[in-house]
Amino acid sequence: MKVPITYLTSANRSLWTESVAKSDGLPARPSGPWIDTKHKLLTYYAHLFATGMKNSWKSRVYLELFSGPGKCFIRDTGTEDLGSPLKVIDHEFTKFIFTEMNGPAAEALAQRLEPYSNSAQTEIWCGDCAEAIQRIHIPDRSLTLAFIDPTGIGHAPFSLIEALRKKTRCDLLINVQHGMGIKMNVHQYTPDSDEECALTQFLGHDGWKKLPRHNAKEFFVGVLDLYKQQLDKLGFSFTGREVLISNQQGSGLYLLLFASGHPRGKEFWEKSLKGVLHPELDLGM
Ligand SMILES: C[S@@+](CC[C@H](N)C(=O)[O-])C[C@H]1O[C@@H](n2cnc3c(N)ncnc32)[C@H](O)[C@@H]1O
Repeated sequence: MKVPITYLTSANRSLWTESVAKSDGLPARPSGPWIDTKHKLLTYYAHLFATGMKNSWKSRVYLELFSGPGKCFIRDTGTEDLGSPLKVIDHEFTKFIFTEMNGPAAEALAQRLEPYSNSAQTEIWCGDCAEAIQRIHIPDRSLTLAFIDPTGIGHAPFSLIEALRKKTRCDLLINVQHGMGIKMNVHQYTPDSDEECALTQFLGHDGWKKLPRHNAKEFFVGVLDLYKQQLDKLGFSFTGREVLISNQQGSGLYLLLFASGHPRGKEFWEKSLKGVLHPELDLGM
């Protein structure tokens, strides 16, 4: 079924200049092979969430705030892979909501989702997810899994998490751009940075200014701790073990951070870590 797209004033309507997929001629996001671990953890968790919560929650929503076009092009191997929305669309959620800033990417995603039976319960918002989150409707008494997958820390300010929390009860899987976003830019984060500074926006306050900055790794650990405290204040008291996603040279690119308001969420996350990172362990699935 055709997937409706709602265009917001913040939508970026410029032409697609990156790669296109050979398989369907539609936009594809260039990526590296490390994207596989991110997608496996997401889909493993999504499966546990959507099936495990089925009896207690009639309405189970999957919300992805930085969706991409639904296909990736893996530069190193020259192969194509499905993007996260297409990896999750067959799971047992009752509603799927995607937000994507880029017009051609949102349109490609809509076309690619069309053949799936769950497309009947799917909507796309094209524009800045901070604008979209104010407009989207999540049914009352829903349990939501929100995947937040930006390309920089400045794209996902803490106000976005606050708006999301006001809207729905949810579990969060957040891509924290710790390499390029934080560790490599420590020199930029100086005590005279104003409130528009990406790190202040990301954390929702400038408490990071009190952290020692001579060691980038320690600085990041301090920032992560402050971020978890912020999540805890919103009721996300159960944060799971983070997963560092690195490139082939072993340089850390980003962290996947899980947070939930319920201990069951953390339990599912632990299972996902075992299932994906140590698949030899029998999880009874
Ligand atoms: C890392 S990619 C998403 C990849 C996708 N989640 C996957 O794994 O297949 C990030 C996407 O977010 C989009 N984007 C960037 N800023 C945005 C914003 N403020 N609101 C919504 N989408 C945004 C970009 O156009 C890009 O397609």
